[in-house]
Amino acid sequence: MRILFIGDVVGDRGVQMIQTYLPKLKRDLKPQATIVNGENSTPVGRGISRKIYKQLLESGADVVTMGNHTWDNKEIYEFIDDTTKLIRPANYPGKDVPGRGWTKLKVNQATLAVINLQGRVFLPPLDDPFAVADKLVTEIRKETPVIFVDFHGEVTSEKRAIALYLKGRVSAVVGTHTHVQTSDGQIIDHQTAFMTDAGMTGPAAGILGMQPASVIQRFLDQRPARYVVETSEPGIMSGCVIDVNDETGHATKIKPVLIDDAHPYDL
Ligand SMILES: [Fe+2]
Repeated sequence: MRILFIGDVVGDRGVQMIQTYLPKLKRDLKPQATIVNGENSTPVGRGISRKIYKQLLESGADVVTMGNHTWDNKEIYEFIDDTTKLIRPANYPGKDVPGRGWTKLKVNQATLAVINLQGRVFLPPLDDPFAVADKLVTEIRKETPVIFVDFHGEVTSEKRAIALYLKGRVSAVVGTHTHVQTSDGQIIDHQTAFMTDAGMTGPAAGILGMQPASVIQRFLDQRPARYVVETSEPGIMSGCVIDVNDETGHATKIKPVLIDDAHPYDL
């Protein structure tokens, strides 16, 4: 099967980019499953709302993944337990965390499982993502070998480490959260597709999606600053497309998706 993954949708501009380009990408790339990280998709860049969640699905997402901003828009508590298409990091500690950390969908005769995990380096101390992945993957592989992991993490080493740790046991590990696409798409040992970070989808002119002024100010004088989402016109859309052998669960191809002023849509 072919899986299209789109990295962190940021603010209104990100949602607009999804509405404009996701249907075109789906028409041209013909993925059987589309996964979108929506953890920054509200107008303020933190969390997701019911309305935006629906817009992402209407634009073609089959599964929406989250990350460290999962709970920042409180509205999520009203609908996260009513859907199987929205997942949050699986390694939240505690027993009564709403929502789910993984989901599955039927793709023709096969089943695709999607797992969301969050790293612990320079991020809140959730449960060990390696141990949680171990347990989940062992369980899921009883049903299907086709497993996609969105690993929401800050540092390159942790992302590569989990990819190598899960090599051969999952079809793909794709990183999110840094909002900068890496050019290291690869198939590790002809088994597991990996890209350190898929990059962001949103306003191109900001600093990782935020207006530059307050971000620069904070670097200049170290005082706290309120970050405001950039809303100017030039947009960027980032992600990757991955082909997986449904029988073995091994990835056969990974290609970056990048649309911006320097890389106009030309499929
Ligand atoms: Fe994040």
